[in-house]
Amino acid sequence: MLQKVEIYRELLDTARAAFENSYAPYSHFRVGAALLTKEGKIFPGCNVEIVSYEGSICAERVALATAVSQGYREFEAVAVVCEQAAEIWPCGVCRQYLAEFGIELIVAVPTADGAIKTLSLKELLPHFFPPTALLGGK
Ligand code: THU
Repeated sequence: MLQKVEIYRELLDTARAAFENSYAPYSHFRVGAALLTKEGKIFPGCNVEIVSYEGSICAERVALATAVSQGYREFEAVAVVCEQAAEIWPCGVCRQYLAEFGIELIVAVPTADGAIKTLSLKELLPHFFPPTALLGGK
């Protein structure tokens, strides 16, 4: 049984490998993410930019959409790594996107000194707009 910190390390390693595939010719800001499902499967993602900037997509949303498209909807944690900077936390759009599938999700990022910082999505997105606002109890 892997300990929590070992799981986060594995997620961070996967996220780090993912930013190698980042397509970021405009910002040169290479981001990788790795999403852990309840079943223990890990889905990587990287940011993909296009010339019409606003159509670009973040690493976290790529990882989440990939997982959902393969039938996974329950998640434990997501790691986010950037080549150019430590401690990059998901952007606002990604926070709301991740919250669609559970506000208890843990977000893990590497610190500048090589440690791991974790926060729950609930801490990152307090008073969020919940899916139940439109879905009710469904
Ligand atoms: N980016 C991510 O992939 N995730 C984030 O949480 C923040 C920003 C990407 C989007 C864009 O390709 C580049 O970083 C610069 O904003």
